[in-house]
Amino acid sequence: MDWFKLKMLKLSILSFVTISYYLDGSFVSALDNGLARTPPMGWISWVRFTCDINCAGSNKLNCISYELYERMARSMKDKGFVDLGYNYVNIDDCWSEFERDELTKRLVPHKERFRGNDGIKELASTLRELNVKLGIYGDCGTQTCAKYPAQLSKFDSLEGNFYKIDAETFYSWGIESFKFDGCYITPNKSEQICPGMSKALELNKKDNNKPILLTCEWPSYMATFRHPETIMPVDWDLVKRSCNLWRHFEDIYDSWLSVETIIDYCISMQDVILKYHGPGGWFDPDQIIVGGFGLSRDQARAHMVLWSIWSAPLFMSNDVEKLQPWEVELLQNRNLISVNQDQLGIWAQMVHEDGKAVWSMGKLQVFVKPTRPKQDTGSQLFCPDFVIAYLYRGSLGNSIKFSINIRQILLKSDKLIQEASNRQGHPEWAKKCLDRIIAIEPDSNKNIKGFHVKDLLDSLADSEQELSIDGYLTLVVNPTGIRVVKLTENV
Ligand code: GLA
Repeated sequence: MDWFKLKMLKLSILSFVTISYYLDGSFVSALDNGLARTPPMGWISWVRFTCDINCAGSNKLNCISYELYERMARSMKDKGFVDLGYNYVNIDDCWSEFERDELTKRLVPHKERFRGNDGIKELASTLRELNVKLGIYGDCGTQTCAKYPAQLSKFDSLEGNFYKIDAETFYSWGIESFKFDGCYITPNKSEQICPGMSKALELNKKDNNKPILLTCEWPSYMATFRHPETIMPVDWDLVKRSCNLWRHFEDIYDSWLSVETIIDYCISMQDVILKYHGPGGWFDPDQIIVGGFGLSRDQARAHMVLWSIWSAPLFMSNDVEKLQPWEVELLQNRNLISVNQDQLGIWAQMVHEDGKAVWSMGKLQVFVKPTRPKQDTGSQLFCPDFVIAYLYRGSLGNSIKFSINIRQILLKSDKLIQEASNRQGHPEWAKKCLDRIIAIEPDSNKNIKGFHVKDLLDSLADSEQELSIDGYLTLVVNPTGIRVVKLTENV
């Protein structure tokens, strides 16, 4: 068995253990700071600008500095990203001096790159004028991943920690989002230690402070290959009570291979994710790399569509000023953003996989996400709309034409229909909705007319499209590409 399969096997065993705790069907309560009722959106520096601290000469534009974040925020505003909801700009690692202030023990922004002690405070207020919120980065261990000062003072111990003082500092600067990484702490200690920062943020918030959105990365060090010898079950209840978003897997890199690894991992975890992911608390499969160097146009579309139908946080990491028009169009696709921001917040599940549809390598995977229908019927029965995506994993040969019976797909989505009804506070609606679907005759034109089919990437699609109404959804998909439609029931 190769290494990846072994990893996935371990993960599915853990997922099973985790799922069995939660058979009561109740939705888990989230960190209570009123934030992230829908998945947050914005920009973060890591994938594109990493820890580039060389601001000399022509690299001035690319280094981790006040100017970089201001430049990105202005460009996001000018290009219309902010008005579409991309309203966080997050500093990642490498922003501080290597030492805390000797007297006050406060973190000190890098003197040159961030214009002295008050630089970050000024940056936050400049960004606020653009309707952009500034985020910052820290770590639950003794150092950040790039070895800058972090929130613990002693390894694996809460003794003398900087949680309170750093929470106060961030509030006083007007920070509105905090990414809390998990380097330099033993992963099996993080559940005891790291939620301390969530408490510190709660306890040290003054009435005039903006609330801070908390992204926890420490769960990912427990759940992933980063420490294969210590992969351990994660207490997702605790994570959800402690964080607004949380990373649960390895870092994204600027390549399709990296995106695919994340897709496979997320599919292996989809039952656990379905249970916990929703308003107030979101699994974070990591940054959006559209606008980078590593993805073809089809791959970029597949990446963006999946993150959208997963209701994943959408934090792009790119140079906003250098985006191509097609990249702006994809990142700003209103259909996808509205699916991503759907109030039910349900993570799309992979409900069907077909390896035989094509002779070449690669399978076709069908994802389904129920969304809240536009027409609000109040307390009367409603059945969800369905977003359906075909992802073709092959990377050899031509585009393929794939057909599947809609009824069959929706019947395989019974868990999702139940989840949608539960989240509306009407679990009993699920059965009625399923009964309606069962009533659709697979080969009769008559009943299937009940669905309006809309291609969500329509304006960009230049390939042949066939949207059938005879019971089979037929779409042409490119290798390493995706198609996505929304089915709305005509009632
Ligand atoms: C880890 C995180 C990345 C980034 C770096 C910074 O690797 O997963 O997203 O924050 O640390 O050093």
